[in-house]
Parts: sequence; C-alpha cells; structure tokens
Amino acid sequence: MDVLIIGSGGREYSIGYALTKDENVDKIYFAPGNGATDELGENIAISDFNELATFVKDNGIDLTVVGPEDPLVNGIVDVFKEQGLTIFGPSKAAAQLEGSKVFMKNCLQKYGVPTAKYIETSSLDEATEFIKTMSAPIVVKADGLCAGKGVIIAKSHEEAIEATKGMLSGESFGDAGSNVIIEEFLDGYELSVFAVCDGKDYVVLPAAQDHKRLLDNDEGPNTGGMGAYVPTPLVNDELYQKIEDRVIKPTLKGLDEDGMPFTGVLFIGVMVVNGEPIILEYNVRFGDPECEELMALFESPVSDMLYKAATGDLKNADVRFKKDTYAVGVVLASENYPYKSSTPAEIIVDDIVHEDLKNNSYIAYAGVSRDEDGKLMATGGRVLVCVGLGKSIQEARDRAYMLVGQVHFIGKKCRTDIAYQALKQ
Ligand code: AMP
Ligand code: GLY
Repeated sequence: MDVLIIGSGGREYSIGYALTKDENVDKIYFAPGNGATDELGENIAISDFNELATFVKDNGIDLTVVGPEDPLVNGIVDVFKEQGLTIFGPSKAAAQLEGSKVFMKNCLQKYGVPTAKYIETSSLDEATEFIKTMSAPIVVKADGLCAGKGVIIAKSHEEAIEATKGMLSGESFGDAGSNVIIEEFLDGYELSVFAVCDGKDYVVLPAAQDHKRLLDNDEGPNTGGMGAYVPTPLVNDELYQKIEDRVIKPTLKGLDEDGMPFTGVLFIGVMVVNGEPIILEYNVRFGDPECEELMALFESPVSDMLYKAATGDLKNADVRFKKDTYAVGVVLASENYPYKSSTPAEIIVDDIVHEDLKNNSYIAYAGVSRDEDGKLMATGGRVLVCVGLGKSIQEARDRAYMLVGQVHFIGKKCRTDIAYQALKQ
C-alpha cells in the first residue's frame, strides 16, 4: 500500500522509518515532511485539506496517517472521510479532547474518570477565589492548544493569580488562554499510555515515560518532551488493568454515547499517585518523542495496525512488539529551545562503524531542513531524537547516548539522565 503521513516532526519521521521496513508498504509521502523525510519518501508541499484529499485520490494512496494535533483539531479526518478516504485519526469532534482542556476535563468528569480537582473559568475573580482555597503548588492551564507550553505550575498563590491574569488577558497565549483551568497539583510519576482505537475496539501499546522538563533532574521549564523510553517498568499488570477499567473503557464508551466514537490513538497522560492512575490530560495523537521509541519496537507491520484501526477492523490486526526489548530516545534540541528560535547550524553525523550501535539505533529527524547545497541543517527547536534499542533499559540508553556522541551541530543540547526513574528502581 501507499501511505501519506501528515506532519513534519520526529514522530512523523519515525512512523515513516518504520513503514520503510514494512513489507505491506510501497511508497510513502509526507506533507509537508522535513529536510530528512525526503530520504524515506516524497515530501509534498500541500496543506489545504481538500487539496490533500485530491492528491490522495489522484495518486491512489491507500492510507493517510495524521501525526500532529493541529490538523486533527481542524477537522482533516472529517474532510477525508466525507470523500471516502481511509485516514488514521479522530474526528474533529473527538479531537476536542486535545483542542480544549475545558472540554477534556468536562468529559473526564462526566465519564467518571479520575482526574485532579479543578475549576474552569474565564473570570479572574472566580479564579482568585478558588486559588485562595488551595494550597501551593497550584496548576494553571490555558484552555486551547499551546504546543505543550500552556501549563504553569505556580509555587505560590500570587504566582498562580499572576499566571491566570496573563492567560485571561490574552498576553500569554492569545485566544488559547481566554478560558483557564485551575487545578490541584498531583504529586507522583507520569506515564504516557497509548490506546489505538477503531471506534469499537482498542489495543493498549506498551507504556512510555517522557521527560517534559528541559534540564536533568526534571528541572527547568516544560518542553514538548526531551526524551522517553518504552516500555517502562513503572507499570505492572495491575496498573494497566486499572487504566483500562477506570480510564480507557469509560472514556471510549462515553465518547461513543455522545456521538463521537474515537478512532486513531488516544494518548493518556497519567499521573500515578500512590499506585492509582489519575488522568492529567488526553491527547489525540502519538506522543513526540514517545512515538520514536514505540515505532522501533514493533515486530508486526505497523501498517496493519494503522490501516485496520482506520477501517474499523482492529480486532483482526496483528500487533506485536519485539520481545524483551527496550528503546530509549534522547532529544537533541537547538541552543535556544524552548525560549526562542536558534541560528540554523549544519548537522554532521559521524560514520557509525560500530556494528553493535549500527544495528541497534537510529536517528529520527525533526527540526531539520536542507540548505541550497543540500546540507542538513538544524532549524527547529527539537532537532532530532537518538534512539537506542537494547535488552535492558541500561543497554538501550547506553546505545542512545553513544549515538548522541556521533551527532554534532553548534548549540546541540540534551538531557543526560533519560530513563533515570526506571534505572534507580
Ligand atoms: P498537560 O499539558 O496538561 O499534560 O501538562 C503538561 C505537564 O504539566 C504535564 O505533563 C505534567 O508534567 C504537568 N502537570 C499538568 N497538570 C498537572 C497537575 N495537576 N499536577 C502536577 N503536574 C501537572
Ligand atoms: N511527549 C508529549 C507530547 O507529545 O505531548
């Protein structure tokens, strides 16, 4: 089959990379892709949903996979389905789970899914009253999409009120902050759990742990994610079962009853507090950088899962992962990430002569482009992800960091402690 991947990040690169090894897949297109995806397939410069649908029809593309949240929230799946095309992702209605934190929190409450106590408001007075009843730290969230940056964890009441003011005035996040959520701080460890759904059935993928903060020891500002590993030993069968029973099943049932059956991948941001899963948020796509590790662990063809999920036939999908294998991914970011853009810098990757490393690692390219001479340049915030595989987390991590040492660009920075929570167990 021929596949179109929508997006331009490391997540989309990793899906494409997995599909290049997939016996079912012939040709891969990326819209728009990045400076490295053109080595896996063909980049096409179309963004309008109707024009993309026409491209898909004209080129006989069998499956479209949507990577990022923006096109999902803006209804790409509805446009494609109206035209009879096969696409992996949720409808515009279901994508509101990520598009609006207020919508998401209201769903969690309605479907009885455990989540942090909160209020939703557009009034500073109401927010201030509620904040005064809480003990710090206090979490303040902008309602709309903010590329992972719309959450402030305030250390004091004053800071929480300031953050709320900034959001409601439009100063911090524009329209995305015109409604806010104020919620209690949950103290625990985070997991990223992915349920692939076809509107009726679901498959839970091995759980991942991301590292959201910029700096080692989880310090510094929140980012889109600085590295992740899969599977995490911080989940056992009992916890998986609780997540299925208390979270996935009621959510999918509730969405279905509300006329928004979920297809695609439901990304469940879980905080485990005293052994109990509490839901921080839903996203409606694969996590980035979690996807980069997950894709490397598939034993079965990824296309089978994606196609069957998109066509309501997930129960017949072959979904298997490499046995006793772990993947660790370390994000290399550009100098000024996540504050501002950085000067483009040439990327040099040393020839990898070490057989062991060559066979057990890969680079997922994200914020990269080609200059006029064809040189690969680091242009984005998160530039690439070095993924290592191994029979233990330690081995996978060693390989990931060996690969980090082979990649050079000015301003390169990364965390040095990815997977530390698993290793200190
Ligand atoms: P969100 O976009 O809601 O996932 O928030 C981004 C990050 O902020 C999460 O991954 C957590 O690390 C942190 N966070 C969000 N809500 C809370 C909360 N109620 N308690 C503690 N940390 C939180
Ligand atoms: N890695 C977290 C996210 O994709 O939102």
